[in-house]
Amino acid sequence: MVDHTVTVLGATGKTGRHVVTQSLERGWHVRAAGRRPAPAGEYTPFDWDDPTTWKPAFDGADAAYLVIPFNHPGAPERAPDVIAAASDVPKIALLSTIDVDHAPDDDPTKRAEQALPPTAAKIRPTWFLDNFTIGSFRGMLDSGELRLPAAEARFPFVDTRDIAAVAVAAMAPDGPSGPLPVTGPESVDHHAVAQAFHDALGTPFRYIPVESAEFIELLMARGFTHDYGAFLADALAKVADGSFTIPVADTVRKYVGRRPYTPAEFARHYARTLS
Ligand SMILES: NC(=O)c1ccc[n+]([C@@H]2O[C@H](COP(=O)([O-])OP(=O)(O)OC[C@H]3O[C@@H](n4cnc5c(N)ncnc54)[C@H](OP(=O)(O)O)[C@@H]3O)[C@@H](O)[C@H]2O)c1
Repeated sequence: MVDHTVTVLGATGKTGRHVVTQSLERGWHVRAAGRRPAPAGEYTPFDWDDPTTWKPAFDGADAAYLVIPFNHPGAPERAPDVIAAASDVPKIALLSTIDVDHAPDDDPTKRAEQALPPTAAKIRPTWFLDNFTIGSFRGMLDSGELRLPAAEARFPFVDTRDIAAVAVAAMAPDGPSGPLPVTGPESVDHHAVAQAFHDALGTPFRYIPVESAEFIELLMARGFTHDYGAFLADALAKVADGSFTIPVADTVRKYVGRRPYTPAEFARHYARTLS
């Protein structure tokens, strides 16, 4: 065991679970902080709704990985206070987002970034490939039809294992600070993503571009709020109409020492987890 203690929020979530395992692989002591135990790491109570849990989760830690649960009411607004509770932690890595610089001034992620100390790392990923397997679009994978208002837009989709690898690099002693954009190795459209899953899983899956209104209704039928559907539709539309382009970043190669995973590699890895 290396003498390096890290507190990981969202340890049961898409990126946090990989941050936990990759930190353990480095021999670090990992506090998996959340409402319930994670598959790995030492369980440490942390609840965004209970400020008394915040400081104890960070006390004595050398680094912390912060995930703002976007869908949890009140959490985005509380992020600056959670960051303040972690102020004694020498190295914070905040999960932000690639388009934060284009967000309005009152955007919660932007305000969270602004609350960080200068030593912190701002992990800024693009769209997760995991959205198709455990995230918002999971139901579409099951239905065989990926119905999104993304037209023929191309995205450098990222595997959350790569986001975690950059975060863990940043949480190491002397790890990088500041904005760290994280993307996959190339930009592809949703036809290519659907094909990657089709090939890996051997089940039908095709991309059908739809209008925003249909997409929002689809998400609402699957239990998401109208606001969340509208937020996703707007973000997809900005790439589809060319008002926002997402450049491929070299951050994974620079700080992890290998190229990021492709959608085909992600889909094959996902297929292996099912067998
Ligand atoms: N998805 C994308 O494509 C994408 C792209 C760029 C940036 N992002 C950013 O990624 C971030 C997180 O995304 P996500 O929502 O999909 O996260 P996630 O990591 O999949 O899940 C949220 C995590 O937060 C935990 N959590 C929820 N409510 C909590 C509470 N009250 N107290 C303590 N822990 C709580 C959950 O734990 P439980 O097990 O207790 O539920 C879970 O571990 C967002 O800030 C988003 O902006 C996402």
